[in-house]
Amino acid sequence: MTAAAELGCALPWRVEALDFSALDAARVRDDETLFFLLASASFIETGADVYTRNLLDYYRDDAETAAWLTGQWEQEELQHGRALRAYVERAWPDFDWAAAFARFFEQYGATCTSAQFEPTPALELAARCVVETGTATFYRMLMDYAREPVLRQLLDHIRGDEVRHFKYFYRSFRRHQQSARHGRLRVAGVLWHRLREAMNEDGYIAFRHAYAQRHPERANDDMDAYARFKQRINAIARAHYPYTMGAEMLLTPLALPPMLRRQGVRAVGGMFRLAGFN
Ligand SMILES: [Fe+2]
Ligand SMILES: [Fe+2]
Repeated sequence: MTAAAELGCALPWRVEALDFSALDAARVRDDETLFFLLASASFIETGADVYTRNLLDYYRDDAETAAWLTGQWEQEELQHGRALRAYVERAWPDFDWAAAFARFFEQYGATCTSAQFEPTPALELAARCVVETGTATFYRMLMDYAREPVLRQLLDHIRGDEVRHFKYFYRSFRRHQQSARHGRLRVAGVLWHRLREAMNEDGYIAFRHAYAQRHPERANDDMDAYARFKQRINAIARAHYPYTMGAEMLLTPLALPPMLRRQGVRAVGGMFRLAGFN
């Protein structure tokens, strides 16, 4: 029995229901960028339970959020990890996922501490909205880029979950704001801070361990390889990233009046386009 079933958690979709026998590996096998994107995402999603422990500890006085984090959010994130792992292992069967993940986790687990949380529960919820904006738009971009049908179906499921996570964190943020009443500038500062962090070291940690496993003879070259990888992601993003959706989600916690919101979405969307994934 899976952890989700033991908890009586109703997952909106099940990895077991995906038809991996229909996977057309020839359509993805030679796409190294896609491989590293999926392998990195599978590591970070699978590592979600360390992060949940820390978040749970932070929200122990908010029973509703704590129950959702363990009963729903964590189960869904872990399923993202299982599904992406299953896909990577079938499409690239010579990649030893478990070995690469073990080394990734050793390093990643040490960097995930509650010291990185924002100073109040309300502000951390705003920051969580940024993280879910990042994942929802990332999977949306990948789905748009991918041509292989099983992968598209999988990414569509994950994308849907991430949008719902965003909505939950946002509702929870509003509930906390009724008493916390942080000003817009303060919230904007948190959004900006977490946005900078989102482009961050987690991605590099995941990439370097996937890279070392796939190209052990070139493991020392991982910084250069990562720079090239990011250039290729930027090219994919220019064609497939949902800039407007990203900007709209990002600005939601600021509750801007409509006119300012429209201008903000244009400005932030333009900024995303220029900045790329750096
Ligand atoms: Fe996820
Ligand atoms: Fe999520």
